[in-house]
Amino acid sequence: MDLKDKVVVITGATKGLGAALAELFSKEGCKVVASATTKQKLDDLAGSLNCYAVQADVRREEQMLELADQTVKRFGHIDIWVNNAGIRIPHTNLEEIDWDRAHNMLEVNYFGTAYGTKAALKYMKERGSGTIINILSTSALQGRAKSSAYAASKYAARGFTESIRSEVKGDGIAVIGVYPGGMKTDFFKEQVPEDYDKYMDASTVGIKIIDNLKLDKPEEEQVIRRPAV
Ligand SMILES: NC(=O)c1ccc[n+]([C@@H]2O[C@H](COP(=O)([O-])OP(=O)(O)OC[C@H]3O[C@@H](n4cnc5c(N)ncnc54)[C@H](OP(=O)(O)O)[C@@H]3O)[C@@H](O)[C@H]2O)c1
Repeated sequence: MDLKDKVVVITGATKGLGAALAELFSKEGCKVVASATTKQKLDDLAGSLNCYAVQADVRREEQMLELADQTVKRFGHIDIWVNNAGIRIPHTNLEEIDWDRAHNMLEVNYFGTAYGTKAALKYMKERGSGTIINILSTSALQGRAKSSAYAASKYAARGFTESIRSEVKGDGIAVIGVYPGGMKTDFFKEQVPEDYDKYMDASTVGIKIIDNLKLDKPEEEQVIRRPAV
């Protein structure tokens, strides 16, 4: 795909991978719509990147629809929608899981992806084209001890991604699942992993996502693991 002038919506665009993608898509000449919940950070991003910032919580279906509506009002259509917003809770044994936080994580990681996809499809189906990118995780490929709640939220989003891909087959819409390994972001500010220094930079992962999009036939399932050391 030639990315120049493409209209790209990114959820969770103020930090980490979302912020890296916002910058990279902007450099490609895309019209970037950056979204997250913290207004101050969105304002800062809009100033530095010259993107269009919309405050929206992925846990609220009506706010995802509003994000899509505002994008179309401003730019006429949506080419690419990245469901990137995601959160984690600290690794713990099952007995120590904080269920309120686990429910909230499912709201963000699964329902947020589902609401975002529905909002994007409202316009993409009408136009018969578009690409949805769901940021999953290698935790959606293999369960790991003490990560049951996070893995479950990402497996849910993976099942959703694969199912919707089949559902929109024939509508001219691509649905890409991205499975990154560990990245150095604020994701881990509450509990820093022991081997954090070996994690990838978010921009390294962002470049691979964009390089995949530029292919004539982008991979529908893109696994981006940390290089072996
Ligand atoms: N870091 C890793 O090692 C890693 C590995 C594999 C996959 N991932 C996935 O990659 C994605 C990005 O993670 P990251 O590491 O870049 O995280 P991050 O640095 O913590 O950034 C998360 C972003 O999501 C936004 N966000 C959080 N809750 C939201 C909500 N309810 N509605 C809208 N936006 C919300 C945050 O902004 P506000 O707080 O202002 O809303 C922020 O912009 C996530 O889906 C994560 O699961 C991360």
